Amino acid sequence: MNGLVVYESMFGNTQKVAQAIAEGLSSGMHVDVREVGMAPDKIGEQVTLLVVGAPTHALSLSRENTRRQAAEQATGSLVSKGRGVREWIGGLKKPNKKLAVASFDTRMAMPSWLKIAPTAGPSIEKRLRKLGLRVVIPSESFAVADTTGPLESGELERAREWGRSLASQFSSAGTKTAFSGQRPSR
Ligand SMILES: Cc1cc2nc3c(=O)[nH]c(=O)nc-3n(C[C@H](O)[C@H](O)[C@H](O)COP(=O)(O)O)c2cc1C
Repeated sequence: MNGLVVYESMFGNTQKVAQAIAEGLSSGMHVDVREVGMAPDKIGEQVTLLVVGAPTHALSLSRENTRRQAAEQATGSLVSKGRGVREWIGGLKKPNKKLAVASFDTRMAMPSWLKIAPTAGPSIEKRLRKLGLRVVIPSESFAVADTTGPLESGELERAREWGRSLASQFSSAGTKTAFSGQRPSR
């Protein structure tokens, strides 16, 4: 069983979450982690689980203009300097329909009553579903304290645990039924 974690990140927060998820996943499978600019345009047959994550920009996935806005706020160089997850998924060559997928995002920390604001993860999920892929777990969000970070305390441990739990669910049911898309109300 092989996992591939693909992430986009401007300031490094989503990159850290991706690495923590990969650590968790590695309890149950071999895992590769790729920045989206370095991610393959065709997913190899050996990959059985694909996990994709991105920062929330303007309530969804980044676009060229929001990445430009991020660059203006950055104090150092950006982690993802080229395409984003939106463009990568848009160009993916026909993936194997048996590929299982999951998504995550980072977003600003906010009071619970505001957490209904859309984030990037469900948008990733929708795009992967359109390719006919099997979503095996609801998308998860991890919070940053401010636009450029840092991550809220405890988020990396939660990401590791999310990865561990995904690995154990997936390995106990390599054929795990797809998640329908209905999410519990928050
Ligand atoms: C242009 C721009 C738009 C953003 N829009 C949102 C938003 O709509 N909702 C939100 O929760 N966070 C928003 N953020 C904050 C990002 O989610 C945050 O910068 C990101 O999670 C940091 O992850 P990164 O270091 O991997 O880029 C925005 C950030 C930028 C730069």
